[in-house]
Amino acid sequence: MSPVDGNGAGGGEDLVIRVQGLRTQFGRHVVHDNLDFSVRRGEVMGLVGGSGTGKSVLLRNIVGLMRPAAGTIDILGERIAAPGGGTADMALLRKRWGMLFQDGALFSSLTVAQNIEVPLAEHTDLPPALRREICELKVALVGLPPEAAHKVPSELSGGMRKRAGLARALALDPEILFLDEPTAGLDPIGAHQFDALLRDLQSALLLTVVMVTHDLDSLYAVCDRVSVLVDKRVKVGTIAELEREPDPWIQDYFLGPRGRAAASAKDALRGGTSGAHSGTGDAPQDTMQG
Ligand SMILES: Nc1ncnc2c1ncn2[C@@H]1O[C@H](COP(=O)(O)OP(=O)(O)O)[C@@H](O)[C@H]1O
Ligand SMILES: [Mg+2]
Repeated sequence: MSPVDGNGAGGGEDLVIRVQGLRTQFGRHVVHDNLDFSVRRGEVMGLVGGSGTGKSVLLRNIVGLMRPAAGTIDILGERIAAPGGGTADMALLRKRWGMLFQDGALFSSLTVAQNIEVPLAEHTDLPPALRREICELKVALVGLPPEAAHKVPSELSGGMRKRAGLARALALDPEILFLDEPTAGLDPIGAHQFDALLRDLQSALLLTVVMVTHDLDSLYAVCDRVSVLVDKRVKVGTIAELEREPDPWIQDYFLGPRGRAAASAKDALRGGTSGAHSGTGDAPQDTMQG
């Protein structure tokens, strides 16, 4: 079986994100054309594609930061985009996901704790003392030492900044976590540690994760399924399924030298880390839905 185009959603699946017929364009530049994409509750969905293929723009559409030219977007059962406009209460809905933007995007003049407090102050009326306790909890959750809470981003390493961004994204106990190239700019050890953290958090907190990445090691280590943006649409499947996809970019990506190196690194690591992960990404014979 080969990967399917778009969502391939069978009946009865618990889809937390469903994008149908999406069209995004900037002037005459069409980025997505009749794109379908869906994510099941509790899975880690990777999102890859060449530079400029519209990965970040797809995330921005899904979280309602952009209005598509056509198509519908449903998230957590609410319609956020449709030809006549969405019907969801975005202020309520926004509390239910967290996002780590491509460039980390912490407020540089605020400490880590103050950064984590931003969504708490914006979306809740918790008293300050309780907000501070939640901050401490989130700092610990992402594996930062307590003293990191009182530092500003420039005083932290790249890896610690990513963790701080993750702590902020988790501030409101989201159901969905969106990550845009979370390991970009980290050295391989830092990237591997971030992947391991993400996998542990995902299973402990029962998160649904959508992660844009260029990092093949991350795809192998963390993702249950992968969506590839090609020709303004997505092809979705497990890595094993995508390897059978004839598209030249996909072939080169998964079966070129970097892909093979990542695959063998995964084999070497399998079973070696803390991995409470129960996803199907590592299974040699995953079945395809749809
Ligand atoms: N605000 C914008 N105005 C005009 N063009 C944009 C804007 N944002 C993104 N684009 C274009 O849309 C395409 C997809 O961008 P993006 O989603 O950022 O790519 P990537 O897959 O690398 O994340 C690119 O060609 C980019 O130049
Ligand atoms: Mg991007």
